[in-house]
Amino acid sequence: MCGIVGYAGTATKDSDHGALEVLIEGLRRLEYRGYDSAGVAVVADGAIHARKKAGKLANLENEISENPLPASLTGIGHTRWATHGGPSDVNAHPHLADNGNLAVIHNGIIENFAEIKALLVKDGVEFLSETDTEVAAALLGKTYREQDTKDLTQALRTTVNQLEGAFTLLATHKDHPGVVVAARRNSPLVLGLGEGENFLGSDVSGFIDFTRRAVELGQDQIVTITPDQHSIIGFDGNPAAGKEFTVDWDAASAEKGGFPSFMEKEIYDQPAAVADTLLGRSDAEGRMTLDELRIDAEELANVTKIVVLACGTSAYAGSVAKYAIEKWCRIPVEVELSHEFRYREPIVDESTLIVSISQSGETMDTLMAVRYAKEQGAKTLSICNTNGSTIPRESDAVLYTHAGPEIAVASTKAFLAQITATYILGLYLAQLRGNLFSGQIKDIMADLGKIPAKIQDILDRSDDIRELARSMAEASSVLFLGRHVGYPVAMEGALKLKEIAYIHAEGFAAGELKHGPIALIDEGQPVFVVVPSPRGRDSLHSKVVSNIQEVRARGAKTLVIAEEGDESVQAYGEFVFYVPETPTLLMPLLATVPLQLFACELATVKGYDVDQPRNLAKSVTVE
Ligand code: F6R
Repeated sequence: MCGIVGYAGTATKDSDHGALEVLIEGLRRLEYRGYDSAGVAVVADGAIHARKKAGKLANLENEISENPLPASLTGIGHTRWATHGGPSDVNAHPHLADNGNLAVIHNGIIENFAEIKALLVKDGVEFLSETDTEVAAALLGKTYREQDTKDLTQALRTTVNQLEGAFTLLATHKDHPGVVVAARRNSPLVLGLGEGENFLGSDVSGFIDFTRRAVELGQDQIVTITPDQHSIIGFDGNPAAGKEFTVDWDAASAEKGGFPSFMEKEIYDQPAAVADTLLGRSDAEGRMTLDELRIDAEELANVTKIVVLACGTSAYAGSVAKYAIEKWCRIPVEVELSHEFRYREPIVDESTLIVSISQSGETMDTLMAVRYAKEQGAKTLSICNTNGSTIPRESDAVLYTHAGPEIAVASTKAFLAQITATYILGLYLAQLRGNLFSGQIKDIMADLGKIPAKIQDILDRSDDIRELARSMAEASSVLFLGRHVGYPVAMEGALKLKEIAYIHAEGFAAGELKHGPIALIDEGQPVFVVVPSPRGRDSLHSKVVSNIQEVRARGAKTLVIAEEGDESVQAYGEFVFYVPETPTLLMPLLATVPLQLFACELATVKGYDVDQPRNLAKSVTVE
């Protein structure tokens, strides 16, 4: 989830900015989308001039003050959230091609970059970076060079028709001063319309300081901007149009996509977080292709035990993983809080696979636990959202989630992306060990592929859950119950409420109720119950329905999350929210969403700082 900005302008006596000022201001506003590196390229004096630097925008600004750029009215800029290739100067965008005459920036993931790269390497192209973007740049450069017409827009069209995955690409060429071309598939792109200048951005915050007239580009569209004009075509070459709108948010809300908080925005980012995490992990035949895993396939196939290490929300993702991996791979999976693991002389050896899960990749408890396990000879695999962070760096292998930067302290989209990544890992291990047929893997991947649209459906129907939250602003305690994969969902629902709304909340395994917690229930006690699919294992569904009845009989206010079409809960739930049908193992990707929305709305109504709850930090780098 990188930030991109493009600019084509003219010098007027009133204008106080050239390309560089626009790009830097745009990147400053887009830095929330990623800050692994930043870079710009401008067209001036018949050449491309580029500067790029790892780290935050300030590093790029220092670089430019030491090595100034010539004045220019055309340029592109990028702030990176690393996916392919760690955060470094060389992996930073822009990437140059056509002998340094073409500059390209990119947001997204190009799934077939390895195949294209292999072909280009055969043609003698040399690559400097590990990125998929440089491959797209090289392909565009080659296409442009081989064309008689030297038409940058058409060259981009030919190029994007060979790419698979999600991308927004922006390019500028020294032979076309005053022109920036851009293409979009599955990644965002907005055009900003000015007077004698036009802009491009991943979102409107990329140009909000300069214009409020914007056009949202549609799927598979290419736009060409000059200072006075813009033209839009589809990837098929036919003329197309975007959706014009006026930006009425202030700059701060623009970064939040118009949402009142980053947390709410990140809840709404979840369809993309899951879709992006799934990208490029399997081929058309249903074979999982985890090229990025650096542990030998045979070693992985032969592990005898998996231990998942994580803290907080990430540990709940691990608890979901246990159900899926044990079912698909028939390998025992233990899930342990990192800080508990370290201090009890755990039994791990060379045949143990440690799977650490961390959004930040910097959580000290998890880092220390991974180090300890490595010392015992275990193989370590990190599921992480932050490219180049310490835990993946120190692990034998890494599987990155592609949720983009998570800014709100309370984790939401990283959680769903982590769960998705554990499914991917489980399916890959099942393939290596021969526990599932490729047809079964393909079916599960197809079910996973439908999840983003189902999350979107939940988000589009969020009014009822928000209203419920507003009506419960005075609640002093809320309980959450679930069984099987619904149990970690219940714990996550409770954690969200505790950490942002400061309301006492507990998540229980529903079967545990009668062993004690049911004593907490008295008149009016709100209890959320996560009900599994009635299409799944009969006993599971009916047991949870019985649990609803048990708490209801003792006066609880029952709030039910159930699967669409499950009429059996209607009689027992004071409030019922339906999530779309999905196989039971995948249900956490849906059932969590209404609970996140509930906590977020409740905390907002109470007037709390949803993004920065008291006493907490985004990255816990102390033990
Ligand atoms: C809760 C939350 C925390 C983190 C935990 C681990 O919303 O965000 O519980 O999940 O601190 O952090 P990471 O995943 O960065 O290791």
